[in-house]
Amino acid sequence: MPINKPAKTDYKIIDLISNRWSPRAFAEKDVPKDILRPLFEAARWAASCNNSQPWRYIIAQKENTDQFSKALSCFNENNQKWAKNAPVLGFVCAYQLMAGDRKSRTNFYDTGMAMAQFTLQALEHDLYIHQAGGILIEEVRKEYSIPDDVDIVCGFGLGYQGEADILPEVLAERELQERIRNPIEDFVFTETYNNKFK
Ligand SMILES: Cc1cc2nc3c(=O)[nH]c(=O)nc-3n(C[C@H](O)[C@H](O)[C@H](O)COP(=O)(O)O)c2cc1C
Repeated sequence: MPINKPAKTDYKIIDLISNRWSPRAFAEKDVPKDILRPLFEAARWAASCNNSQPWRYIIAQKENTDQFSKALSCFNENNQKWAKNAPVLGFVCAYQLMAGDRKSRTNFYDTGMAMAQFTLQALEHDLYIHQAGGILIEEVRKEYSIPDDVDIVCGFGLGYQGEADILPEVLAERELQERIRNPIEDFVFTETYNNKFK
């Protein structure tokens, strides 16, 4: 049974945003390339500084065993516990340079924009994404021959939801925990930093 954990919002927001969450339990069901493509299409249309489009994705599908093991070995030990269940693993990277070889100040930000769109588009196909900052950056760089002018931002697992009981106990419990957030007044200011916008 899929676990639904819609955000308990103070104001009405669009369903895609409230329904997105980050499961660790993925079903043993492959995700065909044709279903992945609209997710990349959504990422493609993200806004970016000077339309620099710095996002770069590396993808490994479970049916390609060698590629999958290589990707999994680039996640840290804790994240491997759930990432091994995902039918697709990936890494999102950010190219550092803009037109004229100027260094971008916003390549991580732009890449996050693309990833947010990717994540929301996934829900349209009943796919969920769990991102992982806990990856072995130098391993990723070496295994995929990533050049020095590309930052490695984040790993992720992607797939259809599975049953929480496939996870180790601590993670299975977390799977069912309520999603929580800081209140709006903690992060929206006016006049001066920390002066709450009420
Ligand atoms: C950049 C980034 C890095 C993350 N790194 C990890 C990670 O290494 N391991 C993990 O289990 N979850 C990781 N997460 C998932 C977050 O813990 C999760 O998004 C957060 O707790 C909010 O939960 P929700 O996405 O279900 O709303 C990461 C999420 C993001 C966006």
